[in-house]
Parts: sequence; structure tokens; C-alpha cells
Amino acid sequence: MEKYVLNGGNPLVGEVEIGGAKNAALAILAAATMTDETVYIDNMPDVYDTNAMLQAMRSVGIFVERTDRHSVKINASQIKNYTFDNDDIKKIRASYYFLGALLGKYKQGVVVLPGGCSIGLRPIDQHIKGFTALGAKVTTGYGVIDAKADALVGSHIYLDVVSVGATINIMMAASMAEGKTIIENAAKEPHVVDIANFLNSMGADIKGAGTDVIRIRGVEKLHGTEYTIIPDQIEAGTFMMAAAATKGDVTIKNVIPKHLEAISAKLVEMGCQIHESDDAVRVVATRRLQNTHIKTLPYPGFPTDMQPQMTVALGLASGISIVTESIFENRFKYVEELTRMGASIKVEGSTAIIEGVDKYTGASVSAPDLRAGAALVIAALTAEGFSTVEDIKYIERGYEDFDQKLRDLGAQIEKVDSDKEIQKFKLKNA
Ligand code: UD1
Repeated sequence: MEKYVLNGGNPLVGEVEIGGAKNAALAILAAATMTDETVYIDNMPDVYDTNAMLQAMRSVGIFVERTDRHSVKINASQIKNYTFDNDDIKKIRASYYFLGALLGKYKQGVVVLPGGCSIGLRPIDQHIKGFTALGAKVTTGYGVIDAKADALVGSHIYLDVVSVGATINIMMAASMAEGKTIIENAAKEPHVVDIANFLNSMGADIKGAGTDVIRIRGVEKLHGTEYTIIPDQIEAGTFMMAAAATKGDVTIKNVIPKHLEAISAKLVEMGCQIHESDDAVRVVATRRLQNTHIKTLPYPGFPTDMQPQMTVALGLASGISIVTESIFENRFKYVEELTRMGASIKVEGSTAIIEGVDKYTGASVSAPDLRAGAALVIAALTAEGFSTVEDIKYIERGYEDFDQKLRDLGAQIEKVDSDKEIQKFKLKNA
């Protein structure tokens, strides 16, 4: 099993280029199946989750070609069936986006019940509520969700919780429903806007994405398009946090600074300098971080997907910090691993009380999920001595060339496959 081996202690210094947003890409791939014409997508991240989506699309006869590492050409006119249940798709949460896409275009779809990171219960009742309001009959059982409709008809839908997935899924289906749909209490995340822009570039009529009321006028047909995915807010935030935690100086390029404001504002409170330009953010940390309090919230609040990385940074800050997780109920599983690196953190329900320590010490830890895995890598980058991070398959779901990008910033990290390789790394970096 591949793992990372690291020797901590080097401040990260230099420039890093951020890829396309994984969570936008996943929904955009599903939406690309809503036209018989060819769709060209650029800035597609080359990570496990997007590749699993592409593989699932091929398995039902959709033409998929990666024209280069970050560009893909899709034509769904030869789709053979409307059931997505292959092994790859079972593992990823975003499989549910095929349901909104298929329901919109073909008025029917069957998709395996979503997997993804186990960070909480993650129900899909709001997706089902939306599809039902549009006139679909939705059933779950035998590990799949089945949705079909004689006709999809626009509706007024009020979401009970702010859900990124439900907002996007309903938006896709409603794009090809008859008449007008209004989604109230919609999610406002940058990738919700990106999917709306993508659908609009295919001829959809969606207004208000990025606010909490989205208005969609259904159209009969969508057409081909060329589209570039927005930069990944969470990949960018992860490198910002790695720069802060290692007392580094990193320029994070190809980002939309506005999407990073919640993270930047907290880093300033913690004593970092942030320099923004049009499409880059530079994080400079020259002294020990200061404590602060964080509560995760839907956008524009502090993102839950940055909570573990932030907790790792605060674990090294002076004073007591409090982190409250308000989106997912099981998102502190990594704290046990972090404690083995010397962190002093007490978790009570959805709150972590963090007493900053001077340093972490190297240890062998396992990534419990995608973002927590990245957070443990950050901890290991700051730690005294050698660490190994296992189960990096989780990290590779959402970070492209994570180890290479960190090495380019001066980190001592390598992906290894055997104890022999670990020994070699230790000798080289002793
Ligand atoms: C997406 C992201 C994930 C991110 C999350 C919140 C993808 C593939 N994943 O996940 O990385 O952490 O947004 O920003 O884009 N909920 C319900 N019923 C539903 C749907 C959601 O109760 O039908 C609850 C969830 O349990 C959670 C909250 O709503 O407490 C937010 O979840 P949601 O925004 O839907 O997250 P995902 O779309 O699954």
C-alpha cells in the first residue's frame, strides 16, 4: 500500500499552481451528459474522483476522451442505459449528480446510493424532496436510487438545510423541466455558481446562482459548449494553511482570491500576512500563529472542508482555540491521529478545544478521509522528525500531485510502497 513518508521542519517557500475545482468538476461531468452535442471541458483535475466519474460514463457508452491531462471531450449521444452502478462510482459521493442530469434529460435514472468520505450521516432527503417536487417518483432500495417522471414540471422548492449537492442536483433536473423552478435557501458555494454558468453555456436559463434564491426556466434542449472549470478553493486553502503552519512564504497561483476570503481573514487574525493579486494569494508567516475561534458554515462562511487543516494549524498556535463543526457531525476523527503527533485537543460533540503546543512530533498516522488526510500531511510537514501517512488513497481522491507540489515548495515528502523505500528516504534525509 502506498503511503507518504515525510521529514518535517522545513518552511514551505515558493509558488504553487492550483488545479480545477474537484467538486465543480464532478457535477459538470454529470451535466455534460445532458446534451447529445460535444462538450469540451478545460481545467479538469486529474484526481481519483474525476477519473471514477469518467470511467462510469464510459461504462454506459458515453464517449470520453482526455485530449490532454486537464482537458476532456465528452459526447453522450450514444448513451446505452440510464443506470450508473459500476464499482468506481460506488465509492464517490458525487455519483448522485447523475440522477439530476439523467432525470432532466431522459426523465429517468438509476444511480447507486452515494459513498464518499465518512464524515457524517450525509442523507439525501433534500435531493429527493426536490426531484419529487418536480414530479418525479423516487424510490430507494437494493443499494440504488431510482427516479422517473412522466413529465418534469417546474416547482417552488424550499430546502430545509443548505445543501450544495441538493441545490446542484435540483438545478440540473429543473434546467430541462417544463416551466419555472425556484429554489429557496439554496447553497451559494462558488461551485454552485460554476455549474449554473456551465449549464447556461449549454443553453439553460438559470438566474441567481450565488444567492439563496435560484430561478430556473426550463428549456427543451441543451447544446454543446466549451468551458473552463474554476480553481479549487479547498486545494488553495490547504496550501495556504500549509504555508501558515510551517511558517513559510507561499504564493498560491491560479486562484480566485474572493473565494478564499473566509480563510484569508482567519489567517490574518492568526498573525499571517496575506497579499492578494488578481489571481494569486501569497501567505507569509514569520512568527508563531495566534489562537482564534472558527465555526464552519455554508459559503461565504468558513468551509467545513478546511476545518481539519485549520485545526492542525491552530494546534500549533499560542493560547486556546475553539473550532465548532456545524455541517457534518463526524468530522473530528483525525484528532486521535493528531494527538499521537503531540497535539493537545479535546473534542466534545461538535466542538474541538485546542490548546496550542510548541511543536508536533513525527509519528505513523492514517488518513481517515480526504481533507483530514491533507491536514495530517500538514502536521507531518511541521513535525520534528519522520512521519508516515497511510491510506493516501483518500488524499488522492481530491489532490493532484500533492506530494510533488509540496516537494516543489521545499518539503521533504515522498510516496513510497515498501519499508525499504522508507529506509532509503530516511537515510537520504537524515
Ligand atoms: C459537498 C461537497 C463536500 C463539502 C460539502 C459542504 C461535493 C462532492 N462534496 O458535499 O466536499 O464538505 O458540500 O460544503 O461537492 N444534508 C441533508 N439532506 C440532504 C443533503 C444534505 O440533511 O439531502 C445535510 C448534510 O448531512 C450536511 C449538510 O446538509 O449536514 C450539508 O451537506 P451538503 O452541502 O449537501 O454536502 P454535499 O453536497 O454532500
